[in-house]
Amino acid sequence: MNPAEIEQVMLSGDKIIEYWDNQPATIDGVLGGYQEIDEVDVQTSCEMLEMARGHISSFKSALDCGAGIGRITNSVLKGRFENIDLLEQSTVQITEAKRRLKKVVRTFVQTRLQDFTFKTTYDCIWMQWFLMYVNDQDLLEFLVKARNLGLRKLSNRRTGCIFIKENVSTSLPIYSDEDYSRTRTNEQFLSIFRQAGFIV
Ligand SMILES: C[S@@+](CC[C@H](N)C(=O)[O-])C[C@H]1O[C@@H](n2cnc3c(N)ncnc32)[C@H](O)[C@@H]1O
Repeated sequence: MNPAEIEQVMLSGDKIIEYWDNQPATIDGVLGGYQEIDEVDVQTSCEMLEMARGHISSFKSALDCGAGIGRITNSVLKGRFENIDLLEQSTVQITEAKRRLKKVVRTFVQTRLQDFTFKTTYDCIWMQWFLMYVNDQDLLEFLVKARNLGLRKLSNRRTGCIFIKENVSTSLPIYSDEDYSRTRTNEQFLSIFRQAGFIV
């Protein structure tokens, strides 16, 4: 598949759902066969949250987006946030998340990120290792929506925070016709964040 065809697949999303419905609903499965990075990834995520302590509105509510089986909810958000909602599109992955985390997660939302509507605000919106399946326009629209409707704002200027952890490519975006993903460059991410109104 050429890049234009992969962009088309990202737009419809159906093939990406099918892909994830066919991946093992395990830590190794959501990490694409690299389960050994789970430990260090979790550790750095916990450090990121600690670093945000001076800015984040509070530790009441979190939304784990593109959550797969809830690896991050289980290892990073659980025990830190009182209420955790989990957003995932794949039936296979979210079914496993429900089995593992039914006592931890407040609401499981089976949807694509681009179809999600905010019903409440969050202190933390976590997005990791799935934005390579979301096209630029959909990501931009989600970030604008999150900024306006999805983040808690306190009178002392503390606000909810969006945590994004993604792979970046060094020069050109990298397309994969195995999982229909596109790895962005850092500059591409920064440009979308700027367009969404964030200062970077
Ligand atoms: C590589 S896994 C990462 C899961 C989790 N974020 C983690 O780090 O353990 C990617 C997950 O994102 C989900 N996903 C991909 N595109 C999505 C979209 N547009 N909306 C919601 N979920 C999506 C897939 O179904 C899959 O479960």
